[in-house]
Amino acid sequence: MHFNPVVYGPDADTFNPMRFANNSKLQRSTSWRPFGGGNIHCPGRFIARREVYMFVAIVLFRFDVKLAPAPGGGKQRFPCLDTSIPLGGIFAPLPGDDVILDVGPVPGESCSQ
Ligand code: HEM
Repeated sequence: MHFNPVVYGPDADTFNPMRFANNSKLQRSTSWRPFGGGNIHCPGRFIARREVYMFVAIVLFRFDVKLAPAPGGGKQRFPCLDTSIPLGGIFAPLPGDDVILDVGPVPGESCSQ
């Protein structure tokens, strides 16, 4: 459902960070089911959404975040979805495709506590 090019466009199977920003109707599409639906609609979706928003906001405001080099050196590869397990929601990345970040204090900010 989440790869339907009729709904998500010809680049449906690629990561497009602007997809939802460019088309606000997508969030209300019946094909957008990150938390499943019907009788088994995820009851944790409200807490999950809030937690993700808070986490992203705190990380971006309080820390300087950079993509770390790949463990063997060079650039990390973009994580691929593990499509071997059928899911009703969002796919996890392939094992070993974690995104590794260097996280430090924001330059110029000092801790006053
Ligand atoms: C980003 C985080 C989350 C995602 C993407 C997610 C996604 C989903 C999806 C897709 C389903 C339906 C599974 C299916 O169709 O077989 C589901 C069910 C469920 N989720 Fe979540 N979930 C998240 C967080 C949470 C949290 C934080 C809780 C609890 C606090 C939770 C509790 C549940 C439960 C109990 C079910 C089963 C509902 C039932 O079978 O009646 N989930 N979730």
